[in-house]
Amino acid sequence: MTALASKIIQGIEAPPIAEAMSWISTSPSNRALINLCQAVPSYPPAEALAEEVGRLARLPATSLYSDILGIPALRQALAESLAADYKADIADRNIAITAGCNQAFAATMMALAEAGDNVILPVPYYFNHHMWLEMLGIRPRYLPAIRGESTTPAAADAAGLIDERTRAIVLCSPNNPTGAIYPAETIREFYNLAKSRGIALVIDETYKDFRTDPKPPHDLFQDPRWGDCLIQLYSFSKVFALTGYRVGSVTASPEFLGELEKILDCVAICAPTISQGAALFGLTSLAQWKDEKLKLAREKASALRQAFEHPELDYRLLSAGAFFAYIRHPFAEDAKTVAKRLAQQHDLLALPGSMFGPGQEQYLRLAFANAEARLMPDVVARLIESQNGKHR
Ligand SMILES: Cc1ncc(COP(=O)(O)O)c(C=O)c1O
Repeated sequence: MTALASKIIQGIEAPPIAEAMSWISTSPSNRALINLCQAVPSYPPAEALAEEVGRLARLPATSLYSDILGIPALRQALAESLAADYKADIADRNIAITAGCNQAFAATMMALAEAGDNVILPVPYYFNHHMWLEMLGIRPRYLPAIRGESTTPAAADAAGLIDERTRAIVLCSPNNPTGAIYPAETIREFYNLAKSRGIALVIDETYKDFRTDPKPPHDLFQDPRWGDCLIQLYSFSKVFALTGYRVGSVTASPEFLGELEKILDCVAICAPTISQGAALFGLTSLAQWKDEKLKLAREKASALRQAFEHPELDYRLLSAGAFFAYIRHPFAEDAKTVAKRLAQQHDLLALPGSMFGPGQEQYLRLAFANAEARLMPDVVARLIESQNGKHR
């Protein structure tokens, strides 16, 4: 700790993935670690994309800043792609390209709210959403997402949390950390609530491409006045395996993007130009590669579900999507103790539920997209090993 940092920053938890990675360094094991702590595709980007990046590197324009809101061709291509996915009118003027979806969230929240305002955040939440709100002095109002067997929050529960300082409701679907995919009707109910109360609905759809249902994730973009209320966030990181390239987006009204532009200009001026070129190539030229990878993701999810049917397993699968599974551990210990033991004695790295909000001590998150489908039985074998007290 240093007295140089502000009290607010000092009071915020350390980056969770870095903390979890520190648990494994002491493991004396000679068995390969199964690392399920971070949502990173288990494969590299497409070879053709790597070649395109090489070509782009030689173009003079690539070393320059782009427009603050992104290169026009990428804004246009993303607008077309979203318009097709959501069967709606979405234009290039609705798109801002950001340096990753985390920056999209950060800039959006900074544009929407100020210190002392509050934002409704379902729990468990994506930890960087929470950390950022706290950094800005925006108060998160916790909305329980785990209700009995369901991992989907209810708009009716959110209604009572709204007051005159509430600026937005945040949703994340498919969800990090639970993997839950919210039904379109539920998302619509949140939208209607936000609209009727004059606040924003911010929906992080980083994992939207990994859904198996071909129908649009929701119908909100079909409302001709969607821009009055809706702000959608997206990432190129997962779908094109570009986590290190840093490209994401905000889809909103041109008026909102005009405000957002001020923030983006101060933070990074623009998303990396070469990475925007890579994202554009992904959108326009990698449909087949993407479909193959989505098929792989589905295979992993079904291998995981099948492995969890093991009769000796006392851990329970609460929900699972394309990237994450949220599981209930069987111990009367806090989640971090369990996660650390799994890392240090059973060579399985998962994040404790406590990193995703209050009341999550009974849960762990598995970012299972990091592993190959054939490893899912090993994941379950290591969980069983941990419940039998067989420590290595
Ligand atoms: C829900 C969610 N939003 C945003 C991000 C960050 O995405 P990006 O790499 O585009 O910043 C992640 C990454 O794990 C995520 O899970």
